[in-house]
Order: sequence, then C-alpha cells, then structure tokens
Amino acid sequence: MKIGAPKERAQGEARVALTPESAQHIQKLGHTCVIESGAGLAAGFDDAAYRDAGVEIVEGADALWSTAEVVIKVREPSEEEVGYLREGQTLIAFFWPAQNEALLERCKATGATVIAMDMVPRISRAQKMDALSSTANIAGYRAVIEAGNQFGRFFTGQVTAAGKVPPAKVLVVGAGVAGLAAIGTATSLGAVVRAFDVRPEVAEQIESMGAEFLFLDFEDSQDGSGTGGYAAPSSPEFREKQLALFREQAPEVDIVITTALIPGKPAPKLWLEDMVHAMKPGSVIVDLAAEKGGNCDLTVPDQRIVTDNGVIVVGYTDFPSRMATQASLLYATNIRHMLTDLTPEKDGVIVHDMEDDVIRGATVTHQGEITFPPPPPKVKAIGQSAPKEKPKEPTPEEKKAAEHAAFLAQTKRQVGMLVAGGAVMGLLGLVAPASFMQHFIVFVLACFVGFQVIWNVSHSLHTPLMAVTNAISGIIVLGAVLQVGSGSFLVGLLAGISVLIATINIVGGFLVTRRMLAMFQKS
Ligand code: NAI
Repeated sequence: MKIGAPKERAQGEARVALTPESAQHIQKLGHTCVIESGAGLAAGFDDAAYRDAGVEIVEGADALWSTAEVVIKVREPSEEEVGYLREGQTLIAFFWPAQNEALLERCKATGATVIAMDMVPRISRAQKMDALSSTANIAGYRAVIEAGNQFGRFFTGQVTAAGKVPPAKVLVVGAGVAGLAAIGTATSLGAVVRAFDVRPEVAEQIESMGAEFLFLDFEDSQDGSGTGGYAAPSSPEFREKQLALFREQAPEVDIVITTALIPGKPAPKLWLEDMVHAMKPGSVIVDLAAEKGGNCDLTVPDQRIVTDNGVIVVGYTDFPSRMATQASLLYATNIRHMLTDLTPEKDGVIVHDMEDDVIRGATVTHQGEITFPPPPPKVKAIGQSAPKEKPKEPTPEEKKAAEHAAFLAQTKRQVGMLVAGGAVMGLLGLVAPASFMQHFIVFVLACFVGFQVIWNVSHSLHTPLMAVTNAISGIIVLGAVLQVGSGSFLVGLLAGISVLIATINIVGGFLVTRRMLAMFQKS
C-alpha cells in the first residue's frame, strides 16, 4: 500500500511523521512511501534524504492525500484535511477523540478509518507504539533544559576559588513519563531533586533515579492510582494535605516542573498563586500541563511570564516541536511499529484486526462507525498491579505464642539431630579404628560449622563471607599440595580434586567480586 506523510500545517509544528529511516523500515513491510515536498525540512530532513531512502516526493497536500492509501501525520487533521479523507483510506495521527467530538463525527462521515496514536493502550506489547510516552519523555527533558536556560544559576553545587555555589533545588510534581524524564535530566545535571505524585507506586522509581520522594502522611491510605497506569482524581482532604506540603516547599525550591495530569480532565491546580509569591526571585516554574489549563494558577499557555516577585512561569505547549528532529525520529518509529502490527504478513497488505487490543484501542472510526471509547484492554497496564491485601497485624500475645512455638520446634529438632548423630558415631566407633574416628569427628564438625555459618549469614555479609571462604580454600589448597605427592594413588587423587575445587572457589570469588565492583564504577 502507499503510505504518505503530508506537511504539518498547524502553527509552529516542526515535526514530521515519516523520516528517511522509518521509510526504509516501512518499505520492508511491502509498502511504498510518499511524502509532500518540504514536509521534513523543519525537522532537519530534506527532500534529497527522502529520495535517497526510496521515498516518492509529491508537490502539495492535494496530490499527497489523493495518492496515499494510508496517511500518517502528527497533528489531528484540520477542516481542510478532513475534506481530503475518503472511504477506505486510513489516517494515523494524534487525534484526542474525547476533546474532538465534532471532528470525530466528520471523520466517521467520510467512511475512513482513523487510528489515534494518543489512544494506544499503555500495555507492555504496545510500548514501541506509545507515542504519548515518547513525546512526554522529550517534554520532560526539554522542560529541565528550558528551566536551566531561564534560571540564573548552576544546577550542580560547586566549590570554587570565587565562592561556594549551592546546588539548585528542583521539585517535580507528577512523576508520569514526563515527570520521570525531568527527574532523570535534573539529577544528571547535578540538582537536588524532590518529586511528588499521587500514585505511591512511583516512589521506588523516583528514588531509583536519585530523587527524594515527598511522602504525604495521609491516614486513609488513599492513593490516586486509577486505571491504565494513569491517576484518578484525589479526595478534597488529600488535596488539602498536598497543598500544605507544596506550601512548605515553595520558599525552598528554585525550580518547579509540574506535569500532573488526570486523563480526560482539566489539569489539577496544584501550584497556587500564594505559592508562586512565596518563591525566591529568579525561581522558575515550567508548567508542562499548560495545554490542559496548567497546574499553576499563573500559567499562560504558550507564554513565558515574569511575576511581580521575579518568578518566571513558562507555559510553552510545544516542547516536542522545539526538539523536532528527535521528536520526529521517535514518533516516526512509533508509527512504523503501528504499521508493522497492521501488516502481519509483511506483504504490503493492511489487516485491520479489531480483535487486537492495541489496534482496537487506538481505532476511533472504522467502517463508517465511531469506535471510541474502546473496551478496556484485556491485558493490565504497565505499572498497574492488583491491589494487595494488607496482612493482618498479629496482637502482642499472638506474636509471643508464635515465637514460643517456633523456639520449641527448633529445640526439638536440634535435640533429635544430636541424639541421632551421637548414635551413628557410637555405632561407627564400635567397628572403626580410633585414628579414623578422630579425623571423622573433625570432618563432621567442620561440615556442621560450615553449613551453619553459610546458611545463617545475612545477605549483606556475603562479601566478607566470601573473603573468609576464600581464605579457607587457600588452606585447603596448601594442605592438598602437601598431600599430592604422597605414595598412595587414592590420596594423590583426592588431593588433586581438592586443589581443583578449592581453586574454582577462589577464582570464582575473585570474578564475582570484580563484577560487583564494576557495578559501582562509572564507565
Ligand atoms: P502521565 O499521565 O504519565 O503523568 C501524569 C502524572 O501526574 C501521573 O503520574 C499522575 O499520577 C500524576 N498526578 C495526577 N494528579 C496529580 C496530583 N494531584 N498531584 C501529583 N501528581 C498527580 O502524563 P505524562 O505523559 O507524563 O504527561 C505529563 C504532562 O505533560 C501532561 O499534562 C501532558 O499533556 C504534558 N505534555 C506537555 C507537552 C508540552 O509540550 N508542554 C508535551 C507532552 C506532554
């Protein structure tokens, strides 16, 4: 089939849905590619690059829409573009069907199939098609770079001959995809980063990225986890506590990056006017939720404003477009993975399988019908786990009784083992020579002590334990080397085996230690 990408006509949109690289992959699926002349220029891809990749170039939107059987683009279609849509044609683009009902109706009337890239469900299999995540990732990164551009100081703390510079303190509100990307970027620049999210399950991710998770002491164990890996609205009491926490942070932090969002709802107002006024002059707020009304009271979409107390509030809504090359490369890759799913036989034939969770979830109009909203996917969303039943805490009496019972059981087992061991020794002593018994008892005790030491040592002490076992292995090697030359074949053989096994243990110990040390080394 013919896959075509028109030039984006929305104001300030520099991205393109087809790159020379993605075109080559799409051609391997048996399709041919066509692009409107100049469509990739703003993203850094000229017509010649497309031509080299085997893409046909056509002049004008009219020619592109009439020749392409599948149109791939970034933004939702404009009125003019819907006019080009025809029955049997497929359009793949961001669409925002919940906010664009009228547009959805118009697309349905054309009989075309529309696949909304913003509706790809957040399940593991669909990660490679998750254009929302790739865009949010770029937005999070760029938000920090933008904040750094506006902020008059270093991110990292420094001690220089000219004086000591404290590190910048960054607060990230909302640790979804954009928030986590912002945390990663800010920590790597050396800032002290704190983050908050209503979903407690992200605490571990925040901490693993080197930021501090701001815990909210809230009794009701209310958390804001919703469905599909997104958040649910929080209760008024929770919100009050959250605002109190932010009020505490406001005078301290230098940069605030807000990314809080609940799908299908206007962005929650979380950074209120009084918090902005409590911030130091020169502080920066980057509000990624500006497009949905903003998390900050003072955000003006698409603008940078400076408040009376000198705080800069950035409300740009086009961060991915400000990194058009990177954004286009990722988005075009998401699109070509979607086309791979739509072309199961790699024979250039699109099979629109409405039984497939991902294709069904993203399809918003098909065969003259509106197919939005989709049924919930059969597979759980990423980051969404079944609610865990909290185990019942035992009472102090129950705890004591359980401990006593465990102690009795252990004592019984130990006494039983001692009696059995003594009996075996006694019986053996009746028949075996005294010199054998002496060595045998030492051997049994060594096994017992070794077993107890290794089994009962806590995991954190395994490294020193390895050093001790290596030392013991060294003694074994020494003893075995002394014995290896003895006249008896059996003694020589056993000594040889001992040298081999102890050496494996020593070399293995060194290799494991080396690997563990490598984990702490920066390459
Ligand atoms: P996401 O849904 O993955 O993350 C949003 C996070 O906010 C979730 O972790 C959620 O738990 C959290 N959240 C919701 N309510 C909260 C509250 N009351 N307090 C604290 N946290 C709360 O969304 P994603 O993909 O990370 O996008 C974040 C924002 O960035 C969205 O508003 C999106 O529209 C915007 N965005 C902006 C762009 C721009 O150029 N300005 C580009 C791409 C995305």
